[in-house]
Amino acid sequence: MRDELVFDFTNLMSGSVGEHGVYDGLLASLSDKAQAIHADMSERRKRGALPYRDLYAQDVSAMLAYTEKAKSSFDSFVNVGIGGSALGAQALVMALCHPYHNFLSQRAGNGMRMFFADNIDPDQCAGMFEVLSPEKTVFNVITKSGSTAETMGTFLVLREFLIKTVGDSWRDHVVVTTDVAKGDLRAIADSEGLATFVVPDGVGGRFSVLTPVGLLPAACAGIDIEALLTGAKAMDRRLESAPVMENPAYMFSMCQYLLDREQGKRISVMMPYSSRLYGCADWYRQLWAESLGKKHNLAGDVVNVGPTPIKALGVTDQHSQVQLYVEGPYDKVFTILAVSGENNPLPMKAAYPGTSSLDYLGGRTMAELMKAEREGTVYALTAHKRPNMTITFPSVAPEHVAAFMYAFEVANVFSGGLYNINPLDQPGVEAGKEAAFALMGRPGYEERAAEINRGLTRNDRYLK
Ligand code: PA5
Repeated sequence: MRDELVFDFTNLMSGSVGEHGVYDGLLASLSDKAQAIHADMSERRKRGALPYRDLYAQDVSAMLAYTEKAKSSFDSFVNVGIGGSALGAQALVMALCHPYHNFLSQRAGNGMRMFFADNIDPDQCAGMFEVLSPEKTVFNVITKSGSTAETMGTFLVLREFLIKTVGDSWRDHVVVTTDVAKGDLRAIADSEGLATFVVPDGVGGRFSVLTPVGLLPAACAGIDIEALLTGAKAMDRRLESAPVMENPAYMFSMCQYLLDREQGKRISVMMPYSSRLYGCADWYRQLWAESLGKKHNLAGDVVNVGPTPIKALGVTDQHSQVQLYVEGPYDKVFTILAVSGENNPLPMKAAYPGTSSLDYLGGRTMAELMKAEREGTVYALTAHKRPNMTITFPSVAPEHVAAFMYAFEVANVFSGGLYNINPLDQPGVEAGKEAAFALMGRPGYEERAAEINRGLTRNDRYLK
């Protein structure tokens, strides 16, 4: 068994799924473009314009020291951030902590209980404060810009909660992760004397899982963050040593790109057959959507490109989505995530002999059943000419999860090159942030508020 991720592209190819797959000739025709994108990425990396590529070399001692200290005072950790300031840490916790982590006693080794306050739904947020013991809770407020309304609003609520309950010592219960110098949260943290960690320059939210944005929550949850960096480094070595047309991250991008642009398969479904990896599919959804969904290309032309990434969970969604995937429109491409070495095979002890719906299961394991269901889905997709590929994790371990994330970050920027767009900006998200500022009356956004209010018309004919 290989002790690294295995990318199996077989069922994306026309040899498996006929006219719905990628033709070898078409893939080969991307060779010159691929070499040029690779050369451009290498040059940008060398001059420090792609800092996410070298995060595995960072020093994590300050994060580990903070974690040790925090664990001696607190048993609960709240991640206050949204988008790229939440999804990476959430994916790591889901993958690498016990499935019922928050129910475990907080003895040494288990890490703190983890809460994610990303959505500002007031019921959910208020509910969270009802179950937290303020004396035992630390809040990590994470925002690269230092101004996102959802995060800053939650900061106000948690600050008040702490002041009312623990008084002046509220500052000991807050750690801030933000820009080194810019943004309102940096100014507040400095003036209040709050503990801080830095989001490195040039690393955007959705590429920040291996910065303190993802690593500090992971460490506090009990995850081995040095092993995460080891996994990212190993994947970097692997990708760098592969010839461009054999590089698994680039292959992923090229196949997805051809299926989108040449064959109208605009929807990219990621379907882990592991509940632990479901958060990784969510993380991928943001990385793909926010980076590749763009109005303008690099020449400034309106192109409106971008595949639509969606997530599904095996086996649960076999009983919800797979009917559509197998028989619906030919507009999707599938990435199945598999795990070859289960931590816990979970035997199904035989009972009720002579019962046909049980006899074939008795004596087997839940892991075998999961594998059979996954293979059945792969077979059904392939038989119905639905292009699909499988990425197999040797196990759900920090090294492999980080290797997966690193490979997809590289693939994502490479895809940006194929689509000829900038994958590192997010003007649509920024517009949404400004709309929230404007509608909440933030000074400086009056014109934007007036423009939005003019656009928010309602026709009584359609009001029922
Ligand atoms: O990937 C991104 O850039 C975004 O999803 C941001 O992470 C998100 O909007 C939150 O931004 P900030 O960290 O500035 O609060």
